[in-house]
Amino acid sequence: MQSAASTRSGGFPYPFLAAVAMVVAVSMAHYLTDPVHTTLHVVYQRLYYIPLLVGAGFYGLRGGMALAIITSILYLPHIVLHWGHEPLYRANQLAELVMFLVVGTLAGVIIDRVRNEREKHRRTAEELARAYEQLQATFERLRLLDRLSSLGALSVGMAHEIRNPLGAISGAVEILESSTPAGDHRREFVEILSKEIDRLSTIVSRQLDLARSTPHELGPCDLESVVQSVLALTVKQMDQQGIRSTCRVQPGIEPVEADEQRMRQAVLNLVLNAIQAMEQGGALEVQVGAEGDQAWITVQDDGPGFSPVALEKGLDPFFTTRENGTGLGLSIAFQIADQHGGDLVIGNREEGGALVRLVIPVQRVGNR
Ligand SMILES: Nc1ncnc2c1ncn2[C@@H]1O[C@H](COP(=O)(O)OP(=O)(O)O)[C@@H](O)[C@H]1O
Ligand SMILES: [Mg+2]
Repeated sequence: MQSAASTRSGGFPYPFLAAVAMVVAVSMAHYLTDPVHTTLHVVYQRLYYIPLLVGAGFYGLRGGMALAIITSILYLPHIVLHWGHEPLYRANQLAELVMFLVVGTLAGVIIDRVRNEREKHRRTAEELARAYEQLQATFERLRLLDRLSSLGALSVGMAHEIRNPLGAISGAVEILESSTPAGDHRREFVEILSKEIDRLSTIVSRQLDLARSTPHELGPCDLESVVQSVLALTVKQMDQQGIRSTCRVQPGIEPVEADEQRMRQAVLNLVLNAIQAMEQGGALEVQVGAEGDQAWITVQDDGPGFSPVALEKGLDPFFTTRENGTGLGLSIAFQIADQHGGDLVIGNREEGGALVRLVIPVQRVGNR
């Protein structure tokens, strides 16, 4: 199949040349054998069918017909020149010429049809395999989203549970604060209490905010400034670890419609992962690009890259290979991408290091 296909698609036509050579050889045998040896001629005549079928087998209709025509051209003069004395035998041979054409054509047509059927089956099998792969990917994604939403529901529940007693504690502390005079040495403890309660409240409301299932502050979002603000936030850490960072932005990128706060959170998670992967220093490159109705931010580093297990499970909540990891960075980034109708793709670069791409639909502002 493979070799026949390659011969048909332009490889050197050895089978064709071999078939022609055989026709020439059989014809020469005809011309050189005295017509008195009728039996030999009858045998030679049948030998023509072999190259004919070879032609049809390798090249289909074209091959079968070409060989039949070549055979006729070489064989006809022999019939006319050498068999004038036996009209019956001559008529028989002329009829055989017609048979060559019929057999060459029929065999070619059948071969072509079989080949087309086989090609059709191959394509159907390929399409099925692709559809199955897509189905599998969709299933994986749904499974992941399901886990994420259960996780979200759990943390929202916890945040709510914490918020109420926190409100009561906060009220009590306020009363304590107002009843503690400024010079009292216990005043300092009350202030610490109040500050820590504020911190807890912020964590709880951020948690509630993040767990909401739809992006709530869609607006024009400049991806470059999202990236720049994340790089500014992390510049100190990068300096300490000897990491060089670059940001390459495709010229002429327009703002996308997105929740800027969440986009920043997602990119921050990716950049932090890259920084953590390059403990001994290295290069971090963030790219911003867009094509058609999609925009993306790519974060790449030259650390060790994703391990095979991390490549498979990296987006799962709580999957981590780091000692102090939470396993939430990538899953939150993925959730944010999904909330925007986009996707998060993780992979490794050929030259080593990880490459993570956050893709979201552009949805130009003003088109809503
Ligand atoms: N830039 C990266 N290079 C190599 N591995 C990475 C990178 N980013 C993420 N990973 C892998 O994916 C895992 C999950 O990442 P994440 O969800 O952010 O959780 P965490 O950072 O808390 O481990 C990491 O533990 C690590 O194995
Ligand atoms: Mg992380």
